[in-house]
Amino acid sequence: MAERVAIILAAGVSSRMNTQLPKVLHEVGGRPMLAYVLDACREVEVSKIFVVVGFGAKEVKEQFNNTDDLVWVEQEKQLGTAHAVLCCKEYLKDFTGETLVLCGDGPLIRAQTLKILIERHETGQAAATLATAVLEDPTGYGRIVRDKYGNIQGIVEHTDCSPTQLAINEVNPSYYLFNNKILFEAVEKVKPDNIKEEYYLTDALSSIIATGHKVVAVTAVRPEEAMGVNSRAQLSVASKIMQQRIQQQLMEKGVTIVDPDNTWIDARAKIGQDTVIEPFTYIHGEVRIGKSCRVGPFAFLRHGTVLEDDVVLGVFTEVKNSTLAEGVRARHHSYIGDAAVGRNVNFGAGSITANYDGQKVNHTSIGNDCYIGSGAILIAPLVLKDGSQISSGTVVSQQSINELGTKADKDVSE
Ligand code: UD1
Ligand code: MG
Repeated sequence: MAERVAIILAAGVSSRMNTQLPKVLHEVGGRPMLAYVLDACREVEVSKIFVVVGFGAKEVKEQFNNTDDLVWVEQEKQLGTAHAVLCCKEYLKDFTGETLVLCGDGPLIRAQTLKILIERHETGQAAATLATAVLEDPTGYGRIVRDKYGNIQGIVEHTDCSPTQLAINEVNPSYYLFNNKILFEAVEKVKPDNIKEEYYLTDALSSIIATGHKVVAVTAVRPEEAMGVNSRAQLSVASKIMQQRIQQQLMEKGVTIVDPDNTWIDARAKIGQDTVIEPFTYIHGEVRIGKSCRVGPFAFLRHGTVLEDDVVLGVFTEVKNSTLAEGVRARHHSYIGDAAVGRNVNFGAGSITANYDGQKVNHTSIGNDCYIGSGAILIAPLVLKDGSQISSGTVVSQQSINELGTKADKDVSE
């Protein structure tokens, strides 16, 4: 088996998104689009991933950890997808293996599809293999042109299609695997002979076919996976599809989601068996929920929330960066931020941690078996011992606790 690397194209300006943020940083399921493409590459074991960045390169790089397998390649001017590949030449000119080429704006990519692509490439001993999709509405995508025997002849971009070609509904989702040497010979020859005057990678493929090399096109990409996100409307469609995938996986693991259409769960969230997520719950960021919990309706769980088993959070309860131990209850209108909460603590309706003093966020520590009355305000930084009872409507600060403690000591000694 030949060594394999990947090139991910992520330098585009993205005029159609009308954005200042680099396109591949726009989030789907709470993660930047590029993250999913990186994941898919890693799942099919590539030795290096070259990410071509340009517009907003600094911001893109900042969002990702610099792992050993990642190489950032700068494309100063976005002259087209073939030009973007060519920017990797200095790294790959002597590489004799196989090169996957993918786009950073395709977050719905599945590793399973890449595996089919790789397998077909190897069994077919092809110079290049691409995976295609058949779409009901192929608008905007490059069309796959085949001869009467079904062999691929080339890809024609939407803007360059004849009326007959526009009717083709087999499209190019930009999933390619190339013999590296042949790829670079071909991209070097590409000319910007098209309406947009860009250097098209799709033309490199056509030229590989024209020079007599074997190119295989396998219809392996599911329609919903083919989507390249070029606009905000497509971003919302991709988000919806990703949400369905996230929820599907959770349900398979034994999580009940009462109303999937009215629930949003981050791709990074982990939820245990027999937990029930009630409608209008929003779970954002790295959140871990244990077994047999009940969350919602209308709960908002934010980054850094950990719920151990058997926790119940009800209506309009918000939790951020906090760990709630087994058996905690906060059924109505609570805010728990930057707190460590012990076992079986009960938060009455409307009780909150006041974790921000206007300058910094402060921590609250609540022991086991505490009772926090309705409407209590716990002013952080604060430590409540095991079994503390806070009356309804109380404003509690560390100072008030300390004074109470001193008074109690006096009562005993007198
Ligand atoms: C491209 C394909 C099209 C395919 C579609 C699938 C070409 C010419 N067309 O079109 O056949 O159906 O993807 O989604 O390849 N990029 C760079 N540098 C550049 C230009 C683009 O890195 O100079 C990156 C972009 O950031 C993006 C990707 O390449 O991630 C694809 O570019 P985009 O402009 O979105 O191409 P499409 O028009 O979608
Ligand atoms: Mg695109």
